[in-house]
Amino acid sequence: MSKLILILKGSPRKNGNSAALAEQVSDGARKAGAKVESVYLAGLEINPCDACDACQEGNDGCIVQDDMQSLYPKLKQADVIVICSPIYYFTITAQIKAFIDRWYALESDHGSALRGKELAIALVYGDTDLYTSGGINAIHTFESIARYIGLNISGMVYGTAEHIGDAQKQPDLMAKAFQLGEALAV
Ligand SMILES: Cc1cc2nc3c(=O)[nH]c(=O)nc-3n(C[C@H](O)[C@H](O)[C@H](O)COP(=O)(O)O)c2cc1C
Repeated sequence: MSKLILILKGSPRKNGNSAALAEQVSDGARKAGAKVESVYLAGLEINPCDACDACQEGNDGCIVQDDMQSLYPKLKQADVIVICSPIYYFTITAQIKAFIDRWYALESDHGSALRGKELAIALVYGDTDLYTSGGINAIHTFESIARYIGLNISGMVYGTAEHIGDAQKQPDLMAKAFQLGEALAV
């Protein structure tokens, strides 16, 4: 059966560099037979977790009524979650952070509903490398989240790209993202 891949785009720039990588991942995955859905998070209303704890106190999930409600079933159904983010102030964007904080509602005494899924990551940054840009902080964050929830990190792609169109000028980076998509499909 073909894999279900959910791609989350975490930049406000619809045609930015992380979106370009997201598209490559999507194309590669589709070519290799996966079903892919991409979501532009900045176009949705996703409020921060307000720590009401209702999700942990017998309620069926999160009670905050916003667009996250339509994403919970997609997250549960996906085999692979792909997070695509620019680096903002040395880590992931606020859109991605708010989205991930809301995963709290998927936790119970039995662990997270996401346990056992695959996670893949695509990052872009303006600075020259993973360290000066802060990309490494984002990777550490994802590694900690994956360890905590029980997600398997199945691939990463990252690189320097500052202005819109910079990612597309780097065939190697684009190819890596496409190959990541292909690898995620199997
Ligand atoms: C508010 C803001 C903060 C940023 N902070 C960083 C940073 O800490 N490190 C870095 O290398 N680039 C930083 N950048 C540059 C972006 O990561 C870079 O332009 C990237 O290509 C944006 O991705 P996008 O095209 O997908 O929007 C920042 C950009 C903005 C707008």
